[in-house]
Amino acid sequence: AVPVITLDGPSASGKGTIARLASQALGFHYLDSGALYRLVALAAMQANVDAHDEQRLADIALHLDVVFSDTSVWLDGKNVGDEIRAESCGEFASRIAHLPALRAGLLDRQRAFRKPPGLVADGRDMGSVVFPDAVLKIYLTASTEERAHRRYKQLMDKGISANIENLLQALRERDERDSNRALSPLQRSGDAKLLDTTCLTIEQVVDKVLEMYAE
Ligand code: C5P
Repeated sequence: AVPVITLDGPSASGKGTIARLASQALGFHYLDSGALYRLVALAAMQANVDAHDEQRLADIALHLDVVFSDTSVWLDGKNVGDEIRAESCGEFASRIAHLPALRAGLLDRQRAFRKPPGLVADGRDMGSVVFPDAVLKIYLTASTEERAHRRYKQLMDKGISANIENLLQALRERDERDSNRALSPLQRSGDAKLLDTTCLTIEQVVDKVLEMYAE
């Protein structure tokens, strides 16, 4: 089978950065599953679809016209790389992500990323639901304060002003929503290795992931 490495964990734990770098180091494909949830959210917001309209949201998930490139994401032929990273989009994504039909609608699309020579996938349920037979499952986390700090720096680098207290509060709410839903809640599954990145640099975390894979 084509090897898959899964990196699950909370918002702003560094999953995206680490998964991308690890996939590059291994020459593997990369799946940013959160981007798919954000794309559904964006398409739904554009079409004024209600956050409770499970049928229409599932329909959007099934028929998303999306293209991923190394550097960006296209929705219906339009580059939406920046738009989907907006807090409002992540926020809406996390409010609709609990819907079973929506999650089911994204399943095949996610699994289609599994192609030779291998895949690194990041999200919340990559190891538990989407790729249960992954060769390496990692649960990546960091303290809430550290994650808020990282998000703050990220926003400042982009010239977006932010408030650390508001970011902390938003992260706590998002963790709470992602952890308490019935389907695919954010949690470390028993077979996932815990990797706490609070005191580690990006390079150190990538090295650890590669070490774990080589073991
Ligand atoms: O990882 P990211 O912050 O981009 O994900 C946005 C939202 O999409 C998350 O807060 C979560 O609710 C949802 N999500 C999910 N399952 C995934 C990836 C993301 O439910 N595998």
